[in-house]
Amino acid sequence: MRVLVVGNGGREAAIGWKLKQDPRVTKIFFSKGNASTEEYGENIFEESIPELVEFATREHIDLTIVGPEAPLVEGIVDEFKVAGLNIFGPGARAASLEGSKAFSKRFMLENGIKTAKAKVFEVYQDAIDYVKEHSFPLVVKASGLAGGKGVVICEDLEQAEATIHDFMIRRIYGDSGIQVVIEEYLQGFEASIICFSNGEELFPCIPVKDYKKVGEGDTGLNTGGMGTVAPSPEFNGMHYADFERNIMFPTVKALKKEGLGFKGFIFFGLMVTNQGCYLLEYNMRLGDPETQVLLPLMENKLIDVINDCLGGKAPELKFKEQKAVCVVMVSGGYPRNIEKGIEIAGVEKLDTLCLLAGARKSGGKYLTTGGRVVNVIGTGDSYEDARKVAYDNIKKISFDYGFYRHDIGQIVPPKTKK
Ligand code: AMP
Ligand code: GLY
Repeated sequence: MRVLVVGNGGREAAIGWKLKQDPRVTKIFFSKGNASTEEYGENIFEESIPELVEFATREHIDLTIVGPEAPLVEGIVDEFKVAGLNIFGPGARAASLEGSKAFSKRFMLENGIKTAKAKVFEVYQDAIDYVKEHSFPLVVKASGLAGGKGVVICEDLEQAEATIHDFMIRRIYGDSGIQVVIEEYLQGFEASIICFSNGEELFPCIPVKDYKKVGEGDTGLNTGGMGTVAPSPEFNGMHYADFERNIMFPTVKALKKEGLGFKGFIFFGLMVTNQGCYLLEYNMRLGDPETQVLLPLMENKLIDVINDCLGGKAPELKFKEQKAVCVVMVSGGYPRNIEKGIEIAGVEKLDTLCLLAGARKSGGKYLTTGGRVVNVIGTGDSYEDARKVAYDNIKKISFDYGFYRHDIGQIVPPKTKK
């Protein structure tokens, strides 16, 4: 079987690592890949949708798996299908559940899917008038894709006005700011639940905790993810039952009702509050760095699950009883300005799974190419065991100004009431 994986991050490296263990997979191509994916297969230069359609046709690709959101929203799945190619992911319409927060909010609210109260605005002055009448904090979101940067938790009126101005008038995220969503602030902990869809039903993986803030103890700026742990130590059976009843099942029903059925991944970004689970967002793909802890724990062959879904069958997902911890080492300055081309030392010393995401190989050296550079994954029978493997190994890696959080997977005992 010949597989094409679209994307160049740690998520795509994890997919490559998983596929590589399956003897039926004879060749894997990555567009455009990174230093790890070239160990699992071949990195290619083709990137635009027409180029990829042509490549997949010419190279007799049996299956394409899409990592990031942008090509999904641009319609890669629709184009591949027109060309008679096999691809796993939602078409452009279903992908707009991620690509447009205005669309997904409407979808949630009209279909009784539990989410934060919100209003969508297209007129700048209306949005300004609205925030003037509300108490803070309030959350202001650019509706379109903004590389994870289009959400601002506003503490006061001044910040809300400035954010709305940035999004709608200055258009700092371009057309993504044509509409804004303004919603109530929810307090709690977050959980990521990723499901496979066979077009009819959803099949959830174990819940994952993503550490989004750059600093230890969840401080500082939001990032693309500084680490993950699976299963989430916080998300229990009671939370799961609540999620199923108030979010997952209503979503399945709504997808059918609105003719948005698809075969691919759907990722529920949840906020768990004292009033239960709320849906913050849908992502119509695997998460990064969620995938880096899910795939090492998944007992199934990824190809079997995807083939079941593509064939409309019900996969039986199985996960190991173990824990997995992924620590991400990032470039100095991340998530703001970073420098690229810095040499990474120590990679060959690791004896656990190490995925080089924002890195490339050049003349036998590893050089940084992005913000999230290295993902080190530890597994074990306890969170402590998994953490120890990840941290004992990440210590062996170094590059100038590189840093990571030291508290990924640390179990913080719940605060007792006095
Ligand atoms: P989103 O892209 O909508 O998931 O938002 C990105 C991040 O912003 C989330 O992962 C949360 O950390 C935060 N966030 C989004 N919406 C809310 C909300 N209503 N209340 C509190 N935090 C939020
Ligand atoms: N880790 C969150 C995401 O993939 O969007």
